[in-house]
Amino acid sequence: MGVKIVETSLRDGHQSLFATRMTTNEILSAIDELDKVGYYAMEVWGGATFDACLRFLNEDPWERLRAIKARCPNTKLQMLFRGQNILGYRHYADDIVDKFVQKALENGIDIIRIFDALNDIRNLKCAVDSTKKYGGECQIAMCYTTSPVHTVDYYVNLAKEIEAMGADSICIKDMAGVLLPNDAFELVTRLKQNTKLPIELHSHCTCATMGMTYMKAIEAGVDIIDTAISPLSMGTSQPATEAFQYALTNTPYDPKLNLDMLSKAAAKMTLVKDKYLANGLLNPKALSPNPEVLKFQVPGGMLSNLMSQLKEQKAMDRYEAVLTEVPKVRKDMGYPPLVTPLSQMVGTQAVMNVMTGVRYKMVPNEIKEYLHGLYGQSPAPVDEKIRHQIIGDDAVITHRPADDLAPEFANLKAKYHDLIRCDEDVLSIALFEAVAVKFLKNKYQPEPQITVETDEFNVYIGGALK
Ligand code: CO
Repeated sequence: MGVKIVETSLRDGHQSLFATRMTTNEILSAIDELDKVGYYAMEVWGGATFDACLRFLNEDPWERLRAIKARCPNTKLQMLFRGQNILGYRHYADDIVDKFVQKALENGIDIIRIFDALNDIRNLKCAVDSTKKYGGECQIAMCYTTSPVHTVDYYVNLAKEIEAMGADSICIKDMAGVLLPNDAFELVTRLKQNTKLPIELHSHCTCATMGMTYMKAIEAGVDIIDTAISPLSMGTSQPATEAFQYALTNTPYDPKLNLDMLSKAAAKMTLVKDKYLANGLLNPKALSPNPEVLKFQVPGGMLSNLMSQLKEQKAMDRYEAVLTEVPKVRKDMGYPPLVTPLSQMVGTQAVMNVMTGVRYKMVPNEIKEYLHGLYGQSPAPVDEKIRHQIIGDDAVITHRPADDLAPEFANLKAKYHDLIRCDEDVLSIALFEAVAVKFLKNKYQPEPQITVETDEFNVYIGGALK
């Protein structure tokens, strides 16, 4: 059987290239063709897509999901789920996690890809159990990073624990795009030897090595790869879907995708891409290879964040110093993978260490919480001297952080009973309270109309087709 393909353009593609701003209308403009391509699944939902719908697009993310589902009779829909953080940045109580999983599946999600920034599997358990309880397909993603503790053996052991938890498949989530071809070959080979579960590879083209990495992973027996349709591929996004169909045709790995449908969908998606190139949200720089990601082992998004923080402080001359500080902070913190929210936390701490000239003189609250154990267990022990310097003799929890959280759903439902019309509304508020309340007020009690960006796109598409 050939390699299976998951299309990522409707989630990670536009998240990586133009700040997750694709509207539902833009997605729907190509959805009938995409549904006929023959993908294993399409990734359509995640934290940033949900947030951007409410915050920037004045769209209900639940309605988007239902609209996509209605037009995709042939393709499974997949979402990305941050374990106990769900789609947000803090730990939520188990009742919110459970309700969110239930409603996501009810509204059209088939596969839930669950990960924890620290690979602390205790933070996955509630979401995994709920996914299985409500009949969803459960994939657990291992955050891939490089460090003295993140060895192939580490990932093999993690995969065994994931299998024991009852996951249906495992994803190697290389959010920074630092997995090199030969390392991928070794990692996938060892995983296939040690687990029966299908293995999926998710990475980014940031360093232009990913075509090679995917090919080596395929040769090692990877079951599923994540790619994006050509207009929304490459650069900081995934490798191009079409490239793999061409490269693998008439091989045992042939994904058997419909190239005609792919090219029809690509034509529509090119119009979308052109809009974001024209309005500047898609910076052409995002499309060029950036080997600095490999040099500093820092995700591309984090590099641009650090750059803008330093520009704001008129301190671009400290850029190299900050990038040299990042791995030191990471070591002090027990080598957390640099993925949301740890990438922002470690980056901010590195900037503070360099700008104040005294390490850990200033410390963000989130780092203090992390040192109290409130994010879960660090991959390696944190530096005790530094922990003591920052939080003194404070108690450090060693149990699962969400064990301390009381149920939240009923209280929120009561608090906002005037505003909400369904449980999905309560969940939107649970995750992004201020933004969701503002959105729902505007949706249900509209005052002056907000200009909706979808109209602009319709005009644009109309113009482009004429
Ligand atoms: Co990604």
